[in-house]
Amino acid sequence: MKILLIGKNGQVGRELQRTLLPLGELVALGRDGLDLGDLAAVKRVLASQAADVIVNASAYTAVDRAEADEAGAMAVNAVAVGAMAEYARDNGALLMHYSTDYVFDGTKAQPYVEDDATAPQSAYGRSKRAGEEAILASGCKALVFRTSWVFSAHGGNFIKTMLRLAGERDSLNVVADQVGAPTSAELIADVTALALAAYRRGELAGGIYHLAASGATSWHGLASYAIASAKARGAAFKVEPAQIHPIPTEAYPLPAARPKNSRLDTGKLAAALGLQLPDWKIHVDRLIEQIS
Ligand SMILES: NC(=O)c1ccc[n+]([C@@H]2O[C@H](COP(=O)([O-])OP(=O)(O)OC[C@H]3O[C@@H](n4cnc5c(N)ncnc54)[C@H](OP(=O)(O)O)[C@@H]3O)[C@@H](O)[C@H]2O)c1
Repeated sequence: MKILLIGKNGQVGRELQRTLLPLGELVALGRDGLDLGDLAAVKRVLASQAADVIVNASAYTAVDRAEADEAGAMAVNAVAVGAMAEYARDNGALLMHYSTDYVFDGTKAQPYVEDDATAPQSAYGRSKRAGEEAILASGCKALVFRTSWVFSAHGGNFIKTMLRLAGERDSLNVVADQVGAPTSAELIADVTALALAAYRRGELAGGIYHLAASGATSWHGLASYAIASAKARGAAFKVEPAQIHPIPTEAYPLPAARPKNSRLDTGKLAAALGLQLPDWKIHVDRLIEQIS
């Protein structure tokens, strides 16, 4: 089985390079091997690679930049994804793809299930939903995983930023009225491999699945936990815990709207694969260990 991984250098892509290896012949491409803004190149590469499974870990993920560049986000997150879906349909390949909690408006009181109505509030969210719709409309074999608040040891992310600021400042103001499950790229890649193996055995149906760590917290809760975890491992910080202040979203305005509720109900995937998704704190602790 030939697996084509697109987006090998992103947070999830890097981890997939490890977890997909035992499942087949893996060809992994980064932006230098395939620019998703070039539709002709996408079609050409898909045809020349002739993979049985396409795993698309690439995405236009600059949420705030997308507000002023919706066409750019659409090109990568919807148009290129549509070409992957059409290739998969026409050639009997499986497309594995990732989407986001940002397809929802965040007004639901409970965690979102897969069938809840989508209502993206940002250009990024609209582009990701358009990608989902292109996959569903194509009728290709597909597994789409919606995830949330992704972090990894590679590249920049919220946790690493908070740890740096905690060393530089006496106090921090962090948004406390958005809740979600911080989910590690490691976990996403682990579950992706399990899902691919199960799909091949005929034990997992195609469709959209929510894939996130268990539990939930706010950005303030995540920052507080990460700083405490690093401190427990010997890190020294300027900020005291009491000086990590919760603030409302309105006090930290950004170009793109974020859902207040980003919680995803993962029951469908957990039941289908027999999984016990770990609490978000476990992988945050792993990250702290990796970067300390
Ligand atoms: N990050 C989150 O908090 C989050 C939350 C929910 C869902 N997701 C979804 O999860 C998936 C993985 O996200 P991630 O955090 O791993 O993303 P990431 O770290 O930002 O990686 C995205 C990758 O896509 C590549 N890419 C962007 N534009 C491209 C283009 N025009 N041509 C080729 N490659 C391009 C980037 O290449 P360069 O390295 O060259 O820029 C990067 O390697 C995505 O579908 C994302 O929408 C992410």
